[in-house]
Order: sequence, then C-alpha cells, then structure tokens
Amino acid sequence: MSSDSTVVTARHFEYVRMHTRPEDGFLLELKAAARAAGIPPIWIAPEQANLLQILLRASGARRVVEVGTLAGYSAIVMARALPPEGRVDTFELDPGHAAFAAEWASRSDVRARVLVHQGDAHKLLPRLPAASADAAFLDADKGGYPAYLRECLRIVRLGGLILVDNAFAFGELFADQPRDRETPAVRRFNEIMAATREVQSVIVPLGDGMWVGVKIAEPAPAA
Ligand SMILES: C[S@@+](CC[C@H](N)C(=O)[O-])C[C@H]1O[C@@H](n2cnc3c(N)ncnc32)[C@H](O)[C@@H]1O
Repeated sequence: MSSDSTVVTARHFEYVRMHTRPEDGFLLELKAAARAAGIPPIWIAPEQANLLQILLRASGARRVVEVGTLAGYSAIVMARALPPEGRVDTFELDPGHAAFAAEWASRSDVRARVLVHQGDAHKLLPRLPAASADAAFLDADKGGYPAYLRECLRIVRLGGLILVDNAFAFGELFADQPRDRETPAVRRFNEIMAATREVQSVIVPLGDGMWVGVKIAEPAPAA
C-alpha cells in the first residue's frame, strides 16, 4: 500500500454510510417489494447511488445506458439525477425482473425518464447508435463485462462516463477459493479495465467497489 493512503476498514465504511444522504421511502418500499417478490437483494448500496447521482449531475448527463436492471433501483436513482428530458435505457435479461422494474419505474417520480428493455444486452447493445449516451453503468453478468465495455466505448460519447460495479468481486477479490463463480471474471475484467487506454478510470471503494471512468479517446477501428 502506498504510504499516502488510509487503509479503509469496515468502520470507515460504516462512517461513510452514516454520512450519506439516505434513501427515500419510495426506494425502501421498492426494495421491500422486490424481496417479497423473490428478487435477490443485489442492488447497489446507497452510497454508490449517491456517487452515481453526483457524477451524472456534475457531468450534465442526459442519456444513460444501464446493463442489468434487476428491480429498477439504480435506474430510478440515476434518472433522478437527469434533467426532465433525460433518459435511462436499462437492459435486463430476466423477464420477471424487467416486468417488476418497469412497474416500479412507472410508479416513480421519474416514470418518463426510465425505459426498461427486456432482453440480452449482448444482443441489444449493438443496436444503439454510436456516441448516443453520456454515461454507461455496467452491473450485470460479470463474464459479459469485456463485451459490454467494448460496446459502451462505442455508445458513450467522448468525455462521457463509464461506470462498472463489483470491482471487489462480492468481497472475494483476494479469496484463494472464491465461492462465487463470477469472481474470476471480475478479476479478468479489472485487468482489462485498468489496461484500457481509451478510459481514464479508478476503482472507488464504495459498496462492492465501483470503477469510475471517463472516455478520453475513441477506440481504434476493428482491423
Ligand atoms: C446486480 S443485478 C443489477 C442491479 C441493479 N443495477 C441495481 O443496482 O439496482 C444484475 C442484473 O443483470 C441481469 N443480467 C444478467 N445477464 C444479463 C444480460 N446478458 N443482459 C441483460 N441483463 C442481464 C440479471 O438478470 C440481474 O437482474
């Protein structure tokens, strides 16, 4: 560890949480309803939600692409940081998750700003035009991340944000025998992200670790 860093402990995380703007009643209700519907509670943490909103507001983002909707929690959070004409296009493979998210997005204060697309993001992202989004948030199958990153480098405009969740592999980044089968994919992706010269990025140690990047160059055309 470099001598100019503080080792972040569980106590620091708790402190960060206690100093973060809390969720409102609607988001708490959404989470309770999702649990009751059997949807796994794997949405982003409130401090990550605040980070996403700060980044979107600061960058003046209007169009956001999300891969991995689940119950719609992060899509609604991000939509709230966009101007009235803004939009989050969120992609979800599981029809049950997509239906739940669409229903809750339609009940939310940002119903006009969230569009849930049900289907495999591997098939749907290539249909989006180049430079049509100001930000992308990747939070789906970890084995798909390299392909999603390639697509989003095309879809997100120069100067736009590339945000990716779970850099800490569900807390198992350094585990000798990780229990989660996606851990090796996260490790491989972290190496790819760190080596992607078109994005200036850093892992922000909030929640399960979030890559925060800015697209600083266009990818070279495929040979
Ligand atoms: C971690 S959850 C997303 C959480 C959500 N971003 C939030 O914080 O509220 C991951 C979601 O990705 C979805 N998913 C997995 N593979 C996918 C794919 N190929 N295309 C689209 N969605 C996918 C899963 O069904 C799951 O609902």
